[in-house]
Amino acid sequence: MGRLINEDKQVDVPDGEALVDYAEAIGVEFGCYSGACGTCRIEILKGMENLSDLSEEETDFGLEGAERLTCQCTLNQGEVSLRPVH
Ligand code: FES
Repeated sequence: MGRLINEDKQVDVPDGEALVDYAEAIGVEFGCYSGACGTCRIEILKGMENLSDLSEEETDFGLEGAERLTCQCTLNQGEVSLRPVH
């Protein structure tokens, strides 16, 4: 079991699960759910190594630094601290 953390909010995520089903509970907003709109863009503060590799959609989106698209990520294991990018 892993965990997603956004400041004082956190949610448990089973290993291997897509973040999309859990991240809304800690304040991440979604739009297209397909890697196109960028609404779910987050900055990873800790635990990038615990996420799946960049998807083709994320690469095409042109993310900067430690950013990811939540709708494209799966948690491999462990904790991930994040901050929504608006
Ligand atoms: S919800 Fe649109 S890119 Fe993730």
